[in-house]
Amino acid sequence: MAISAEDFRFVTELVRTEAAIVLDAGKEYLVEARLGPVAHQLGLGSIAVLVTELRARRDPALLTRVIDAMTTNETSFFRDVQPFEHLKRKVFPELIERRWNEKRLSIWCAAASSGQEPYSMAMLLRENFPELAMWRVEVLATDISTQVLAKAREGLYSQLEVNRGLPAPLLVKYFHKQGLEWQIDAKLRSSIQWREFNLAARTYPPMGPFDLIMLRNVMIYFDVPTKRSILGNMRRVQRPDGYLFLGTAETTINVDDNFASDTLHTACYRLKAA
Ligand SMILES: C[S@@+](CC[C@H](N)C(=O)[O-])C[C@H]1O[C@@H](n2cnc3c(N)ncnc32)[C@H](O)[C@@H]1O
Repeated sequence: MAISAEDFRFVTELVRTEAAIVLDAGKEYLVEARLGPVAHQLGLGSIAVLVTELRARRDPALLTRVIDAMTTNETSFFRDVQPFEHLKRKVFPELIERRWNEKRLSIWCAAASSGQEPYSMAMLLRENFPELAMWRVEVLATDISTQVLAKAREGLYSQLEVNRGLPAPLLVKYFHKQGLEWQIDAKLRSSIQWREFNLAARTYPPMGPFDLIMLRNVMIYFDVPTKRSILGNMRRVQRPDGYLFLGTAETTINVDDNFASDTLHTACYRLKAA
């Protein structure tokens, strides 16, 4: 299903306004691959008809479908390994020591996709820090895509998905077979609060403060002013001595100088004043 130049412009503008996602020229193939199936599923015949429909009336349900389809939700359990090693060896031991009196931790996975990242974190905590069972540990997991959030809430993964990054002992311990799929333990599912959230919102509602924010592999889709604005918001909701993780290919350098790198091994940052 080929897209016309005018419809491509309309879609890129829409996706940028609604989700801050930047689609450069040449990404027509991506829009075609993502919106073709949506048009088909909705019985709209073609992307051209879908775009005409969007232009005619900004139906919120249709808009949600289009934004959902245009997000890239690639993720896996314990993705990149190193960030989780750093969490295990340095970040959580330090936080546990510093918060020992209040016995409370607040964590935000800010682009949680289908849940592998927050569930990896939840398993890491259970496996390595049993003392936290007596603490109040709040994990908020958000994403702009309602579809991935629905999957995350269900915690249901294919064999292929559990094969990606999940150690076999953790599969056996925390998942049970549901037909051909694997579902994560109900206790782990209910230990996480799932919410729709647009990181590109100019101002954030009152939230936090968070001891730890995972903002991984999402900033790559945004332009520099959006990244700057998001990092500014992160500073406001992060505890002064808290931690911020970005994706391996992402950095705060030349975007927001208020962050300092915590390690050479992974993209973990702390506020400079801390
Ligand atoms: C590539 S996934 C990264 C998932 C996970 N953090 C990881 O590193 O494996 C990027 C996620 O960011 C979400 N996303 C894209 N734009 C967003 C926005 N404006 N606000 C919130 N989430 C957004 C997408 O829906 C997608 O699930």
